[in-house]
Amino acid sequence: MAGTKTIDADVAIVGCGVAGLYCALNLPHALRVVLLAKTTVDECDSMLAQGGICVLHDPDDYESFFEDTLRAGHYENRLESVDMMIRASRPIIDDLIKRGVRFARTATGELDYTREGAHSRPRIVYHEDITGEEITTHLLACVRELPNATVFENTCMTDILEGFDADGRRVCRGIVAEDAGGAHLQVNADATVLATGGVGGLYKHSTNYPCLTGDGCRVAAEHGVLLEHMDFVQIHPTTLWTQKPGRSFLISESARGEGAILLNDAHERFCDELQPRDVVSGNILREMRREGAEHVWLSFERVPREELEHHFTHICEQCREEGYDIFSEPIPVVPAQHYFMGGIHVNSDSETTLPHLFAAGETCCNGVHGRNRLASNSLLEGLVFAQRAADKIMRDRFAADTAAQLAVAASERSRFVAGSRDVTDVALLCGAE
Ligand code: SIN
Repeated sequence: MAGTKTIDADVAIVGCGVAGLYCALNLPHALRVVLLAKTTVDECDSMLAQGGICVLHDPDDYESFFEDTLRAGHYENRLESVDMMIRASRPIIDDLIKRGVRFARTATGELDYTREGAHSRPRIVYHEDITGEEITTHLLACVRELPNATVFENTCMTDILEGFDADGRRVCRGIVAEDAGGAHLQVNADATVLATGGVGGLYKHSTNYPCLTGDGCRVAAEHGVLLEHMDFVQIHPTTLWTQKPGRSFLISESARGEGAILLNDAHERFCDELQPRDVVSGNILREMRREGAEHVWLSFERVPREELEHHFTHICEQCREEGYDIFSEPIPVVPAQHYFMGGIHVNSDSETTLPHLFAAGETCCNGVHGRNRLASNSLLEGLVFAQRAADKIMRDRFAADTAAQLAVAASERSRFVAGSRDVTDVALLCGAE
């Protein structure tokens, strides 16, 4: 392409949310990694996640964590994916802590656990009401220190590149992108990971950044890559009602987990606040319709003042800026688009149906969430399956290197061994399993 800057890399990662960053961090330093952020690196939804990140509380929690995830997802989840996510959760949290991520602690220094809707027990670790920012900022700092990774901001993927492998199969060969000044970039890469986030930018009322417009899904669809459950869109029950335009401000579900209650105009409770999100959103919208109201109310009167001050600091601040004092009055809340459970179909190694093309995070569908995601499973799912993508890229690379070495060995040996030999024969000759 004329006037196009071309970079040769081993892995191209599109998106700098937790999925993209964690994939980069789990790749060996020997691989050259290029990451793209469509706008600035802070404009990703991972930064906005408030409530926390789920973790298997203890081995006895496995069954109920599994069941809670399935019940929220209407039992349309992929069981294998749910199992992988839950089993990987504790090592992931340990790794985040090693990387410097701070989670709330009890007075005795143990991890503190909060609760959100549809969780049968507290199993969510958190950092104030800005858990996503805490995790993403640390991962970003770690990526910035990688000797093998380069981050391009304000660079939007416009397409993926296709080619053919040695067996004549169509494969992904990297991406093309455009920066804010209109300059073109081509990244040739053996593996490409789409971690482009969700679709909230396509909605009038969403908690997502407007730049999140489903780019990964669009490009995948244009290349005939399988998409799945494109109608599985989650509406979060509580965002701060406002007449101002722009992104809807989330009022974390952990507020209800810690005792906040929903009220109608007559200041009566009208639903169980700790049901799954789709159920609570449905109840709110019905109540609004019944009353002809533009919102309902969320009251913090049952949440201890200390909890409000220390756990919900940023929500308190944002409400104060909008003219509400959550210590003394209910705030107006309304449901808004929040999350996308469908997306690019991937297997449990985050591979799409186009070889060498992976997808992780909100842009993909690995089936963990079923029809409706359980609160605080998103950061965890993004991290677990980004790590699995990195592991698979590494295994493929090792297999390719081994195959190349074996091919060299084969040609060497063919001087001594009569007849042609394929890699398997040579592997046997070399004593490989
Ligand atoms: C919330 O804090 O309610 C949002 C976190 C999530 O989407 O799980």
